[in-house]
Amino acid sequence: MLLKQCPKYYIREDTSQILSLICSPSCKVFFNHDPIKIIRARGQYMYSEKDEQYLDCINNVAHVGHSHPEVVSAGTKQMELLNTNSRFLHDNLVHYAQRLQATLPEKLSVCYFVNSGSEANDLALRLAWQHTGHKDIITLDNAYHGHVSSLIDISPYKFHQLGQTEQSQHVHVAPSPDIYRGKFREDHPDPATAYADEVRDIIEKAHAKGHKIAAFIAESLQSCGGQVIPPVGYFQKVAHHVRNVGGVFIADEVQVGFGRVGSHFWAFQLQGDDFVPDIVTMGKPIGNGHPMSCVVTTREVAESFMSSGMEYFNTFGGNPVSCAIGMAVLDVIEKEDLQGNALRVGKYLMELLEKLKEKHPLIGDTRGCGLFVGVDLVKDRLKRTPATAEAQDVIYRLKDQKILLSADGPHRNVLKFKPPMCFSREDADLAVGKIDHILTGTHSRSNSVSNSNTNTRTNKKQRT
Ligand SMILES: Cc1ncc(COP(=O)(O)O)c(C=O)c1O
Repeated sequence: MLLKQCPKYYIREDTSQILSLICSPSCKVFFNHDPIKIIRARGQYMYSEKDEQYLDCINNVAHVGHSHPEVVSAGTKQMELLNTNSRFLHDNLVHYAQRLQATLPEKLSVCYFVNSGSEANDLALRLAWQHTGHKDIITLDNAYHGHVSSLIDISPYKFHQLGQTEQSQHVHVAPSPDIYRGKFREDHPDPATAYADEVRDIIEKAHAKGHKIAAFIAESLQSCGGQVIPPVGYFQKVAHHVRNVGGVFIADEVQVGFGRVGSHFWAFQLQGDDFVPDIVTMGKPIGNGHPMSCVVTTREVAESFMSSGMEYFNTFGGNPVSCAIGMAVLDVIEKEDLQGNALRVGKYLMELLEKLKEKHPLIGDTRGCGLFVGVDLVKDRLKRTPATAEAQDVIYRLKDQKILLSADGPHRNVLKFKPPMCFSREDADLAVGKIDHILTGTHSRSNSVSNSNTNTRTNKKQRT
């Protein structure tokens, strides 16, 4: 009935109901108890059908700001002129590949244009398999690398939700290099080596069973895994172990690339100039919302891939519209100094959060680089017990106050900041101010709950 009427806009409740009927029930919306309907967005703000303004602290896809006019115009202009596939020569593809290469170490010189982060990582695995002739992949615990079959296999964030038997025998899970909650913590004298040695041990065990390692894959900073920042030197040491046995290192920059970390354009560069991955995958921010992505690798890996004799063709990858949009995104990052903004505002945000940590025992840890920041909520600072329900409560209360934040990590207790890169100091003040207010309330709410529990217990005692 509702579908037949086909109004211009459904009211929010109808949209939600129809969605649950005609779209896959496995697809979840944000705040599923009370979802939001967004109809337009600009910069770091999103607007509901009632024209309520929300501050977006989570959308790392709208990298240079939602609906950026320069990006929209670049896409529109190219769409008016031509859109076709890469079987025809087009300057956009050449110019764009050159622009991307200029941001990367020299050795990473060959681009493959694809359409999503998943497609990029799937192709990265194919490159690794073909180049090494090996089959096994080492991934990090809690990692997410995409939704296609090959990537669910290497995404513990997802396959942990299935039975243990579902894990592929060619996939090995190394501990996440998380120095706050992981196996080796900030008090360890050399966590980088300790975590890398875990990878070395995995390789040895795999070899003992006759398995050979094709690749180690990791996000340069784990996002779904709980905003984890690996200790400096970890990637170099892992790369050493993996390359020693003929494998390659894949850096997944799908969430964290394009200047988000502030001090560098690519998050893997945080590890130091002496570290260069063999394959880098890009996605989300690359097209500011336009579906496009890229894999960049070395000439040697690309030549091995070609030597299989199988041609690589991708209908949409590298089309002139996507390339025009990709170039506009790079232009805006540069013109508006968004990497610099990420550095400055990210630092300011971290300072505010540090002060908040002094005030609220619920905050166990704050960590971040640029505009990639995590706030780890704990019930107990010593035991670091994840405060999952509290984190959910915080994000729902923030949403009521028109701030969009998410909670992630294996325990869903880490508040994640990864806003559009035009996020300002005022935005940081606003978001942190609201969190402060909510946490103050949480403290007094839990005090009154525990007081009333104590009273109930006392009363009970008195009665017995
Ligand atoms: C680190 C990482 N890699 C890959 C992907 C997959 O990207 P897409 O959803 O564009 O396929 C995601 C998506 O969330 C991601 O976070």
